[in-house]
Amino acid sequence: MSLLEVRDLVTAYGSIEALHGVSFRVEEGEIVALLGANGAGKTTALRTISGLLRPRSGEVRFAGERIDARPAHEIVRLGLTQVPEGRWIFTLMTVDENLRLGAYAEPRVPQAALDRVFALFPRLAERRAQVAGTLSGGEQQMLAMARALMARPRLLLLDEPSMGLAPVLVRAIFHTVAEINREGTTILLVEQNASAALRLARRAYVLENGRIALEGPGPDLARNEAVRQAYLGVGARPKAPHRSPGGVA
Ligand SMILES: Nc1ncnc2c1ncn2[C@@H]1O[C@H](COP(=O)(O)OP(=O)(O)O)[C@@H](O)[C@H]1O
Ligand SMILES: [Mg+2]
Repeated sequence: MSLLEVRDLVTAYGSIEALHGVSFRVEEGEIVALLGANGAGKTTALRTISGLLRPRSGEVRFAGERIDARPAHEIVRLGLTQVPEGRWIFTLMTVDENLRLGAYAEPRVPQAALDRVFALFPRLAERRAQVAGTLSGGEQQMLAMARALMARPRLLLLDEPSMGLAPVLVRAIFHTVAEINREGTTILLVEQNASAALRLARRAYVLENGRIALEGPGPDLARNEAVRQAYLGVGARPKAPHRSPGGVA
């Protein structure tokens, strides 16, 4: 049994269908990447899985249980948490208050979870009392991830964690994603930064216009010519420009 199983998922916004029958799975312990261009349906897929959108048809199973008709807060309680695109931290609250809200589903804020996120993100520990809106972009992304981890999920959905960050911070975020996974959390990673995501992911899927176009082991997709051209910005060399006999292009 897969930890997450998505079958024939169709999700629409009014009359506009964004997912046209998407199927994929995530096994316990994996990092799986979901790649695709802007507008392919990645965020829609994550929001449907975490219960923020209702699918028109299809199934989502988490640890064997149907969750596609469950409210989002129950899905969090089952062990599935999403870090939304654009972070959505509470900017007027402190780092510490943001983290405590991440554990809202539990009767008491678990000290062990706080200790764990401060070990993963020492920069946040130093800034516990700082108002979150004054953190840098990278620190805000760390806070969004840390807040999601406060719920101690079995499966963490990350929606473009590297978006808008400088390369050194992108590396730090990806490093932490690997560490979170090593400590036992399964990860579904949505990214536009395909090369970084494919280095990390055991398996990956490519979403194109609301359909899965390709799937395979991360390293295989990183070598795939179509993926290289569309998402890695490398691949077939451009044709040599036509030159007139006089040598002027
Ligand atoms: N709230 C919305 N209302 C209507 N259409 C939407 C909404 N959100 C996304 N879409 C459309 O659904 C499609 C998939 O979007 P999205 O899931 O955000 O893609 P991605 O995350 O891969 O960039 C796009 O065509 C987008 O315009
Ligand atoms: Mg998106």
